Amino acid sequence: MKKIEAIIRPEKLNDVKDALSNIGVNGMTISNVMGFGKQKGHTQIYRGQEIVSKLLPKIKLEVVIPTKKADEVIATIVNTSKTGEFGDGKIFVFDVADTIRIRTGEHGDDAI
Ligand SMILES: Nc1ncnc2c1ncn2[C@@H]1O[C@H](COP(=O)(O)OP(=O)(O)OP(=O)(O)O)[C@@H](O)[C@H]1O
Ligand SMILES: [Mg+2]
Repeated sequence: MKKIEAIIRPEKLNDVKDALSNIGVNGMTISNVMGFGKQKGHTQIYRGQEIVSKLLPKIKLEVVIPTKKADEVIATIVNTSKTGEFGDGKIFVFDVADTIRIRTGEHGDDAI
């Protein structure tokens, strides 16, 4: 299994969520987060002092999927959240050791 953690623009959440549902993703976790990337949310001068990084609101989307589905999920997130402008976000991919559905005790792909 893989965990895909995507940092995306808040206004793209609905499109990404719908596109993932359409390709059979059964569950996901969404958080409101703050962050900055390479442009540091536009460096500013405030009262003569450079503000090093400005935190911008972003959405963190976490989804755990069977490994064979990872490429499709990543492509779907990229296609639906890309504008081509700075700040489109980033996707991090992790190996997942196991998943357990608490209600039934199922493990692995069956628990996703
Ligand atoms: N290296 C990183 N580690 C953790 N989070 C990151 C990292 N880079 C970006 N993020 C998160 O992704 C959000 C969007 O980053 P962003 O798309 O601006 O990255 P970037 O590298 O500056 O790319 P771009 O040049 O396209 O803007 C950030 O606000 C932050 O929450
Ligand atoms: Mg950036």
